[in-house]
Amino acid sequence: MKADDTLRSDRSENLEFTPEVKAATADVWERVRGVLPEIEWPVHAPLIHAIRQWKQRRNAVILAHNYQTPEIFHGVADLTGDSLALAQQAADTEADLIVLCGVHFMAETAKILNPEKTVLIPDRRAGCSLADSITGADIRLLKERYPGVPVVTYVNTSAEVKAETDVCCTSSNALAVVESLDSDRVLFLPDEYLARWVASQTDKEIIAWKGHCEVHERFTGDELRRYRENDPGLQIIAHPECPPDVLDEADFVGSTSAMIGYVGDHKPRKVVMVTECSMSDNVAVAHPDVEFVRPCNLCPHMKRITLPKILDSLIHLRDEVTVEPDVAKRARRAVERMLAIPTHGLHRGSRSESPVEPELIARAPVTDSLTGLSTTGPLS
Ligand code: 13P
Ligand code: SF4
Repeated sequence: MKADDTLRSDRSENLEFTPEVKAATADVWERVRGVLPEIEWPVHAPLIHAIRQWKQRRNAVILAHNYQTPEIFHGVADLTGDSLALAQQAADTEADLIVLCGVHFMAETAKILNPEKTVLIPDRRAGCSLADSITGADIRLLKERYPGVPVVTYVNTSAEVKAETDVCCTSSNALAVVESLDSDRVLFLPDEYLARWVASQTDKEIIAWKGHCEVHERFTGDELRRYRENDPGLQIIAHPECPPDVLDEADFVGSTSAMIGYVGDHKPRKVVMVTECSMSDNVAVAHPDVEFVRPCNLCPHMKRITLPKILDSLIHLRDEVTVEPDVAKRARRAVERMLAIPTHGLHRGSRSESPVEPELIARAPVTDSLTGLSTTGPLS
């Protein structure tokens, strides 16, 4: 699809907070009024109204990750979820245009699964420290070093890395993917902490990479113990990208959607979601009786996506995500193989008494936390 002149010339969106806009967006305001300051609404509402109109004109679907801000998550998204759900929804959509409100690897995954469709990300600079921690060349070297050992990579990787992979996984299905392989040893890349978590739940030998999520690695077991000392009834639920001392303090470990499911199922009086900051706001909308303790670690990449950029993306059809066809074809095999594996939640199971430590084979990536740019050297 190309931006035609009619659409390009239609740039003067009326972004005033008129009575018509107020009425048309009243449903959203009712949902988010508990988590957004009222003073912001006259700015958000006209953008939400315009985005909804452009979505229809474009036959577009907006997919939003659980870490998007409430005005995006509750205001304009058609489908929301964790990385696995977004991949599944991208595979199923009948829309002509997919706008992915999340980070670049998610938009690439949507494109890999929909080569005929136009996939847009409102800001192509929305990266990921995990995806930046490993390259296709690294995987090729690892395959030489560990011949015959299957390669599982987290979806938080580039298309080039997925193309070198046997099967992808997300934090929802990592254990099920590893268990599905007919091998006692598995290369599990690039998240060291997710690898350690999986290693603690399986008898297979896990060989891991030293990549980290710059958001989750900042949490510490000490800060969680302090929260618990203040209120022993507090429930702690954590994402498996967190370091092991954090997961040791958690009552539940799971993907972002599994964490949301936990709050819905258990309705804790008070909970701390040990993950990106916006999740608690998004979940609080549906659970006004639950008190959320909010240690606020923001993902700077997720936060590049804003309502003005989404509108711009729909009007001007940018930033388009492309993947070289041969790379896409090979990456698609790894993603589709993952999607075919039945999903079981990554629940906090009975952790083995003496978990086998994963073999760590990489050099520590040096990551600039603002840009997410990795300065890793070649594998020696
Ligand atoms: P999930 O939503 O798949 O749990 O992933 C979390 C994350 O960090 C995505 O970037
Ligand atoms: Fe990557 Fe972590 Fe941001 Fe997710 S939260 S996109 S893993 S840096």
